[in-house]
Amino acid sequence: MIALGLNILLGSGVNDKNACQRRSSGDTLRTRMVDEVIIKEVAARDGLQAQSVEITLDQRRELIEALARSNVPELEIGSFVSPKAVPQMAGTDELARDLPRGNSKFSALVPNMKGYELARREGIDQIAIVLSATEQMNQNNIRKSLDDTFAMAGDILARARDEGVAIHAYLAVAFECPYEGKVSPQVVLEQASELMRNNPARLVIADTIGAANPRDVKAMMTELVTQFGAERLGCHFHDTRAMGLANVFAALEAGVRQFDSSAGGLGGCPFAPGAKGNVATEDVVMMCESSGFSTGIDMEALLESVACLTRMIGSQQGGRAHYWLTNNWQKFSN
Ligand code: COA
Ligand code: ZN
Repeated sequence: MIALGLNILLGSGVNDKNACQRRSSGDTLRTRMVDEVIIKEVAARDGLQAQSVEITLDQRRELIEALARSNVPELEIGSFVSPKAVPQMAGTDELARDLPRGNSKFSALVPNMKGYELARREGIDQIAIVLSATEQMNQNNIRKSLDDTFAMAGDILARARDEGVAIHAYLAVAFECPYEGKVSPQVVLEQASELMRNNPARLVIADTIGAANPRDVKAMMTELVTQFGAERLGCHFHDTRAMGLANVFAALEAGVRQFDSSAGGLGGCPFAPGAKGNVATEDVVMMCESSGFSTGIDMEALLESVACLTRMIGSQQGGRAHYWLTNNWQKFSN
């Protein structure tokens, strides 16, 4: 806590988006640094891709509209994947043709060059590609070997560079794999270096099954921030073992300012057994804002997105602070 406080006061030294802001009461003797945290909202993709309840395209559109109203800076609308592999994501092309207005930057996930081309055809220019740190996870997720996955990522990154497309390269199962167990940090650091040589707009370290702990996250992200700077790094945490929020905080302390999260804490990968929901956006917003960071997200509208998810799925959705936030959202709204 003290370390983070100092980071806020002195600036983490890794993010030039820091902005000085003088607070009127209680802070008169010091100038506080207000650090911006950029949240990519992934409920419409990670949240829905493993749902057993049938969700219509109209419902997916309604969710995207609700999330856009909450002013999330980045919003993943779905994925361009094989409808045989992930039927829940069929029709993302239709959604991409009818996106709401607002301030959100829309993105989509693709598993291969075909997906990249389909996303580009619909005008998506922020695209997530997924490389898993282990052989077995790549085989199960996208039916490719580790080597072929990295070669394909190189091809997509080269093409995206020519076409002015921002690629967010995800290193999935970066702490533990459901098939191969613990993943060596050294392996992940080498893979990160290899990916960074191809200049992705962002490298996202993903704890796909929610097995990371804050100490390992802080060590990994501190090393990556030292090597590459925080500007092009992000983190994606699942909350399977109740450490999602603590892991976000550990990454914040390491200087990371870009996080994926999912409204209501929904999420899971159909090919990663044991993966539970993502860390909930409303919890991350609450933690960031109360720790002196700014997210730009409208909490009341975000909670309406959670209510939308509850209606769609037919059971109560919401992160750990959902009950409290529904009564106190004013404290965390723009
Ligand atoms: N979008 C839509 N269709 C696609 C596609 C894409 N990105 N990539 C391939 N296809 C289609 C092919 O056209 C082909 O169609 P056909 O049977 O009508 O001829 C079919 O899928 C098989 O193509 P192939 O290249 O042999 O793919 P595959 O069977 O080896 O499956 C993936 C590979 C990557 C397409 C599939 O595993 C997949 O979509 N995985 C998604 C994983 C995912 O979303 N995980 C969660 C997020 S990380
Ligand atoms: Zn995920």
